[in-house]
Amino acid sequence: MNLVLVGAQWGDEGKGKIIDILSAKVDYIVRYQGGNNAGHTVVVGDKEYIFHLMPSGILHKAKVCVIGNGVVVDPFVLLQEIKEIKKAGIDIGGRLKISALAHVILPYHKILDQLRETKRKNKIGTTGRGIGPCYADKIIRCGIRMVDLLNPKILSAKLKDNLKEKNEVFKKVYQHKGFDFNSIYKEYLNYGKLFAPYISNTALLLNKAIDANKDILFEGAQGTFLDIDFGTYPFVTSSSATSGGACVGSGVSPAKINKVIGVAKAYTTRVGEGPFPTEFNPSFGKFMRERGREFGATTGRPRRCGWFDSIMVKEAVMLNGISELAIMKMDILDGLKEVKICVAYKYKGKLLREFPHDFEVLSNLKPVYKTLAGWPKVFTKPRNFRELQPNAKAYLARLGDMLNTKISMISVGSAREDTIFLD
Ligand code: IMP
Repeated sequence: MNLVLVGAQWGDEGKGKIIDILSAKVDYIVRYQGGNNAGHTVVVGDKEYIFHLMPSGILHKAKVCVIGNGVVVDPFVLLQEIKEIKKAGIDIGGRLKISALAHVILPYHKILDQLRETKRKNKIGTTGRGIGPCYADKIIRCGIRMVDLLNPKILSAKLKDNLKEKNEVFKKVYQHKGFDFNSIYKEYLNYGKLFAPYISNTALLLNKAIDANKDILFEGAQGTFLDIDFGTYPFVTSSSATSGGACVGSGVSPAKINKVIGVAKAYTTRVGEGPFPTEFNPSFGKFMRERGREFGATTGRPRRCGWFDSIMVKEAVMLNGISELAIMKMDILDGLKEVKICVAYKYKGKLLREFPHDFEVLSNLKPVYKTLAGWPKVFTKPRNFRELQPNAKAYLARLGDMLNTKISMISVGSAREDTIFLD
């Protein structure tokens, strides 16, 4: 069975936890897009792990973890993660595979990301990790790939060529002194040596695994509404965070994908700028942020919080081909007098039932809510669906109906065991 797991909102849905659970059931875990802008939190016992680049499956012994061609790799960050994982006593052995075709983040990408953001009138709220500029170089065909780090002649030629142009831009447009060839060349050549044992043709590896009837989990980073095409552009990330990205970002054909699972929070959050129709008012937002510990795993920035938006998630179900949903952080809604679900939008007196693309509309519409009664806070965690509070069950039933999608997992806490499976 080859599964794709995607975020159905603006990222931070709690994918890390579900990936961790599903990883136990598969043989290969693949990251297919994004970079270290992502942050997956996994809690095992009393230990919390936050991964930015490493597939979370690395915590499971004997699973092969693949960083696919669609990912942009900051070698410094990946090296740190490898060191931390080894320090935690987890054996990586031959389990980490990095695509030779994955693009590499260079120092100029990070600085450009930050300089561009300071110059922009409409700030995106980027994580400043160089993700956008690295993908831009990939598309304009001057990117440096993992395979290039293994070839001193090619690395030197590409880097020289890039710096010739980029240093001019840094000096003239951004009044930045630019970058020295020698230090970058030396540093990245060294990364090539360090990563050589991990770099390979991962598309071949995965297709051979499929032929051998192995099971693969493709773990999406970010979420549907941060997707470069379908997200709330330009307040998006620079990769294809929707399920289609799994194929182009790994070299596995869509014909080989069996199922897409979506992950959504029981409410909504977003980090960074951009429209957010169901955003709470500031004081309730602060209350929920603290209660849900809604601070970015990558940048520590406070996440904006709001009610569940069924119009958005319905769109995500369609775009990704989601047939099952995991609803996360249900426990954060415990103890509220009432809970709301956005069921439509109103713009200039007109009712909208689909997610609009016009930025002007999206920024000015008003959500139409269905209000449901809340449920009390409980001190023993429910261990199965029966043990959920009746109104919590009613809330979930309403979500399932509105989305016309099966809810197969419900998370009521951060630990692995705080998960209710409906199948
Ligand atoms: P970038 O990907 O760093 O360029 O950031 C672009 C936008 O995506 C910003 O609003 C970020 O906050 C958001 N973003 C990027 N990665 C994540 C993530 O993993 N979770 C949530 N938001 C993210």
